[in-house]
Amino acid sequence: MKILKIDGGKNLKGTVNISGAKNSAVAIIPAAILCDENVRISNVPDISDIDALKEILTYLNAKFEKKEDGDIYIGSCNIVNKEIPANLSKKLRASYYFMGALLGKYKKAEVYFPGGCTIGSRPIDLHLKGFEALGAKVTKEDDKFIIEAEELIGNNIYLDIASVGATINIMLAAVKAKGLTVIENAAKEPEIVNVAMFLNSMGAKIRGAGTNTIKIKGVSTLKSCYHEVIPDRIEAATYLLMGSVVSDDLTIENIIPEHLEALTQKLIEMGADIKIYEDKIHITNKNKLKPTNIKTLVYPGFPTDIQQIIATVMTQAQGVSTIEENLFENRFQNLYELQKMGARIKIDGKKAYIKGPIKLVSSEVTATDLRAGAGLVIAALLADGITTINNSDYILRGYENIQIKLEKLGAKIQLIQI
Ligand code: UD1
Repeated sequence: MKILKIDGGKNLKGTVNISGAKNSAVAIIPAAILCDENVRISNVPDISDIDALKEILTYLNAKFEKKEDGDIYIGSCNIVNKEIPANLSKKLRASYYFMGALLGKYKKAEVYFPGGCTIGSRPIDLHLKGFEALGAKVTKEDDKFIIEAEELIGNNIYLDIASVGATINIMLAAVKAKGLTVIENAAKEPEIVNVAMFLNSMGAKIRGAGTNTIKIKGVSTLKSCYHEVIPDRIEAATYLLMGSVVSDDLTIENIIPEHLEALTQKLIEMGADIKIYEDKIHITNKNKLKPTNIKTLVYPGFPTDIQQIIATVMTQAQGVSTIEENLFENRFQNLYELQKMGARIKIDGKKAYIKGPIKLVSSEVTATDLRAGAGLVIAALLADGITTINNSDYILRGYENIQIKLEKLGAKIQLIQI
């Protein structure tokens, strides 16, 4: 297990450069195997979820090479399509993208139910229904899904919920299907647009990504391409929220501010001292924060991934803030850890009430999932003295060089393997 030890109560100062988006890169890498030629991808974050995907690609006999400039080359002409065993599938959520990618390319995929953060039951029924609508047969053997088709034929698919994973997975399977696939009530997250642009660079014909309706005209082959992963809006949000409480001068750069509007509007409403530029944001903790209310929604609503992180900031606002979590049924585990640090929080079903301001106290806490861990990092930076965050492996799934980035800003932080 990895632990982070943070000696908090220090002012952070400086500039932080945001890495490539985890949720984009973890879809683009499996998507790359749809093509037989080499593809080059830049701005891939160096996080453990990418290491887990590399393991799957290597197991399938694909080439995964990181060049000196940091770009990743993926070569898929020698892939052996076989079952992806449970130990590899369960390392991360995004292993489910091999279902769509292998089905699209070889008309057969054998993948176990994916792993990922335990923030709810996270069914994949919509992914499977989508594959079936394209003509695939899905067989479940214990925890393994065998998905196969004689041929894939485009169809109209209405998603009951605008799911990020289902939208991307169906796109991957449909890219090489015969005819037209239309996904209605598609998710609109920027990562979906980024994946669609990557597929189009390889020769796919996808229109409407970023809207409710995505149209995919099937093609028979895909070719080599170069593609860049967009900046990680959730990593950016994490540093932005950090800045609002523990820094008198923080610049977050290499970002797309439009992707962060749900959060920046909230911060403005809370009275934060924030200046938004074309590709960077400056923020300080100079202003006292007012309490606020958030309800998590699909994009462009307030992201569930940021909910757990803003919870820590709410402990510093002048009054009672509320959170309503509408996507995942188990996404308040971080609040029990914050309570160990002295936070005043009441949880009632899918609602939480957080009363501030409170001086958090250093403690020993546990990262119960990735974004819970990120919220605890901010809490540890706020509390005087040393806070130990157990299970920090979760945090490393999604934050590139978090220790180095924070040290550069003046934090006292140690990453220890025990
Ligand atoms: C993705 C992100 C995750 C983010 C989430 C919501 C990745 C790898 N992960 O997760 O960081 O928190 O989007 O923005 O990109 N649902 C079903 N059936 C399905 C699929 C989803 O009922 O087949 C439900 C889920 O339980 C949830 C909602 O739909 O309530 C949204 O989930 P979804 O957008 O699919 O999230 P993930 O793809 O798991």
